[in-house]
Amino acid sequence: MDKGPLSREHMLGFEIIGTGHYVPGPPVPNEALARVMDTSDEWIFKRSGIRQRHYAPEGVGASDLAVEASKRALDAAGVRPEDVDYLIFCTMTPDHIFPGPGALLGHKLGIRAPALDIRQQCAAMLFGIQLVDGLIQSSAAKTILLVGAEAHAGFMPWEDWDALEGKSGRHASPEAKERANKDRALAVLFGDGAGALLFRATDRNAGLRGMKLYTDGGAAKLLYVEGGGFRTRPYWKRTDFDARTYVPKMDGRELFKFAVTRLPACARALCDETKTPLESIDLFLAHQANARINDYVRDALGVPPEKLPSNIDRFGNTSAATLPILIDEQMRSGRLKHGDLCMLLALGAGVHWGCALVRW
Ligand code: ACO
Repeated sequence: MDKGPLSREHMLGFEIIGTGHYVPGPPVPNEALARVMDTSDEWIFKRSGIRQRHYAPEGVGASDLAVEASKRALDAAGVRPEDVDYLIFCTMTPDHIFPGPGALLGHKLGIRAPALDIRQQCAAMLFGIQLVDGLIQSSAAKTILLVGAEAHAGFMPWEDWDALEGKSGRHASPEAKERANKDRALAVLFGDGAGALLFRATDRNAGLRGMKLYTDGGAAKLLYVEGGGFRTRPYWKRTDFDARTYVPKMDGRELFKFAVTRLPACARALCDETKTPLESIDLFLAHQANARINDYVRDALGVPPEKLPSNIDRFGNTSAATLPILIDEQMRSGRLKHGDLCMLLALGAGVHWGCALVRW
């Protein structure tokens, strides 16, 4: 049986009619992290390309960050919340274990539409775009809000937020720093924020041209949260807190290798499958987990630097929010415009990864 891509000529496309992003609070520079862990701006920037990130304040969840980003996307498109007929929310840091934040966001915005939560971590936007395409092809929805938002602050390994924020003018205690050091390689990477993309069905020659998605659950323990979860009674224990199993465990080196091999391979496979010369792609929008990962991917594919923009220096890794934040920045700056052929690439915990070709 032919497993090649379906001809998309007769199919309805999608276009992105509004985008928005939001990051909470003031930027937190690398130097501030050195007040709560043994680390430095030099180490963090050299290993990751990150200079600063933002953190959601206490009491602010992913759904709150998503409200601000979504309002900006709706405003940009001139669409009212009641005209949205499907909502998809991507996050790995939901406000509650259940219900997912899609319902909360819909309520806060006044969207009266089905809300779906997906949890493919940093690769979630790709899965979301595949769902958007399917909903539009099946005429189940015409105007779809796809949001990625993260409040990672809740899993940071330090306790002394006053020291981090410089309010007390002191460093955390040596004992507290020692506890946080165990997870410092992970902690420096992540930042909070939200991005929103508003999609609409279109007859214009635009939309998804091809997609490759992969999941390898055998590699799930490269990045996962060990604590909590309904395989134990109760699903959250005091010992989880004492053992700090609420902080994700990450095998950074293996994940790095996983990303720099899988992402170029998947980009090439998609180009082959869709008969798209790599050089004909105008822009590569890649998840921002580590600037060095994207440098490897770019070099492996022979893509010039100006075709693979980066914003990790300002936001860190914002997981599911990264791609929509990057897309918003590229669209608002005029770098990404109607007619451009764009490749989206992402890899995240699961491990889930893939790439998509989109005619803008
Ligand atoms: N500050 C100072 N020193 C540190 C820090 C820090 N923040 N973190 C680790 N170190 C030290 C270690 O203790 C170690 O010291 P040692 O040699 O004395 O033992 C040394 O630096 C090297 O540590 P590694 O962890 O081996 O550093 P590595 O070069 O692998 O870089 C990093 C770590 C940046 C995490 C890298 O592995 C990476 O980016 N991996 C990919 C991570 C990733 O992509 N994650 C998310 C993807 S999925 C998603 O986004 C949900």
